[in-house]
Amino acid sequence: MENDKPILVLGIETTCDETAAAVVERQRDGSGRILSNVVHSQTEEHVRFGGVVPEIAARAHVDLLDGIVDRAMKDAGTGFAQLSAVAAAAGPGLIGGVIVGLTTAKAIAMVHDTPLIAVNHLEAHALTPRLSCALAFPYCLFLASGGHTQIVAVVGVGQYVRLGTTVDDAMGEAFDKVAKMLGLPYPGGPEVERAASGGDPARFAFPRPMLGRADANFSLSGLKTAVRYEASRLAPLQARDVSDLCAGFQAAVLESTADRLSVGLKLFHEQFGAPRALVAAGGVAANQAIRGALQDVAAKAETTLIIPPPALCTDNGAMIAWAGAERLTLGLVDAMDAPPRARWLLDANATAPAGFANTRAGF
Ligand code: KG4
Ligand code: ZN
Repeated sequence: MENDKPILVLGIETTCDETAAAVVERQRDGSGRILSNVVHSQTEEHVRFGGVVPEIAARAHVDLLDGIVDRAMKDAGTGFAQLSAVAAAAGPGLIGGVIVGLTTAKAIAMVHDTPLIAVNHLEAHALTPRLSCALAFPYCLFLASGGHTQIVAVVGVGQYVRLGTTVDDAMGEAFDKVAKMLGLPYPGGPEVERAASGGDPARFAFPRPMLGRADANFSLSGLKTAVRYEASRLAPLQARDVSDLCAGFQAAVLESTADRLSVGLKLFHEQFGAPRALVAAGGVAANQAIRGALQDVAAKAETTLIIPPPALCTDNGAMIAWAGAERLTLGLVDAMDAPPRARWLLDANATAPAGFANTRAGF
């Protein structure tokens, strides 16, 4: 590959309930440009089940992906022959969907004799801020989505150190479960945030999980259970109760998150010096109250808070394409037998925290 030419990468994302493809360009100076970014969110397909159904998601990816790749290529005004590489999220995620995306990428790579890059979905979230703004390493990532809740030191491409993780539910998952138990629709995060805005956060004395602990781990299932207990005690719930329960839950999440992140930033400092920024990603980063809490944490730690635009915070193809471009620049390409992975640690040295009890969170 010639060094002075920009890199053009097609990225495919199918690890959960978004079917997405995008084309991204990376200049030699490290700057990036999104040429197309097509996302189909399968919310409609899953809403009546109150959550993502893996088999339905995989089937929908099969039906949708070819058309979405086609759209992404047309929107970008490019052809397969112009691509420097094709990248797909090869995990962690729901295995049926991962197989669909990775197999499609392999087929394109094979037919067009283009390098394949099997991207770790979490790595793609971790590198996204370098696409949306010029950010140098190292920085601290807070990733909070429906499947993951982690604090990660992003030291370089392929160099990630996990500083904290959830020992049970992911944060978005906890929002979704609380919404479900209160009769609010899926996905629950925005619904809980909306209901919380009119509620009294002090009506219920919910626990603040992990507060004051020396590690930077999270726990959300005890808090969720406390909400469930109050909800069944009060049933049938009035609108006021739902608002107050949501406000109480969200306030507890905020306080716990602020505490966990300040510990995470302290651990970062000890190991890597001052972070260039605190970066937030994942669907939960859309929550305005959480953004406010993160702003305070960053200010106290004398660093800058960066939150990529919402379309790049939630799952999308551009983040996969960008991670592919970053890896290709370093010559990191994959063979055709690259496996799809339901679980795939970003930090190969990380171990499950004490009390770890979730198979989905990918610790
Ligand atoms: O990153 P994402 O789009 O998909 C993955 O899970 O990978 O994140 C979706 C999660 C859902 O659990 C959703 O309820 C949560 O992010 N979420 C929110 C908000 N918007 C989305 N959680 C809290 N407040 C929000 N405003
Ligand atoms: Zn994600």
